[in-house]
Amino acid sequence: MHRDLEEILISTPRLNAGIKKLGRRISSDYAGRSVTLVGVLKGCVLFMADLVRHISVETRLDFMMLSSYCGTQSTGVVRTVLDLKENIEGRDVLVVEDIVDSGLTMSYMLRNLKTRRPKSLEICTLLDKPSCRKANVSIKYTGFTIPNKFVVGYGLDYNEIYRNLPYIGVLKKEVIEGTKLCR
Ligand code: IMP
Ligand code: MG
Repeated sequence: MHRDLEEILISTPRLNAGIKKLGRRISSDYAGRSVTLVGVLKGCVLFMADLVRHISVETRLDFMMLSSYCGTQSTGVVRTVLDLKENIEGRDVLVVEDIVDSGLTMSYMLRNLKTRRPKSLEICTLLDKPSCRKANVSIKYTGFTIPNKFVVGYGLDYNEIYRNLPYIGVLKKEVIEGTKLCR
């Protein structure tokens, strides 16, 4: 385990099993259709790369980058840093996110994508932290529901580091100086 971590919350084998299950559900729900996965950079990268390997229907990949976070504090202000390359009008779109916390990022994302008139629009998140929700978002696919702890690894960062850890871990308190978790 990385020395900045207090505990490993979700081990690599548990991640693999959970993601395989999500891939199977998605493949069966979208059977006979084509799905456009919209990954939210950068946190989605490891999750999306593993998830797509378990999706058997025709799949397109696209990405958006939003900015809302500074350290562990959500500013509540979301802006598009990088937009989709493809036109999603009439497509079955599945947003792939690392974690839904306050829900502000996802509610911005849904509002934004809806204006482009996709045929369907759903969310797939690796982690759901429902205890800090501020915006009501309905999530179709959730890998793991977690308690109100600041987690890193498997794509998730703290000030841009720890994304490469192959598991989800909880950062030690002394590493997150003076951070309030519920905002
Ligand atoms: P929300 O807008 O509060 O739902 O936050 C969503 C974004 O905040 C996620 O996509 C993450 O990038 C970041 N985030 C929220 N909680 C955590 C965490 O525990 N660890 C790392 N990043 C987090
Ligand atoms: Mg994110």
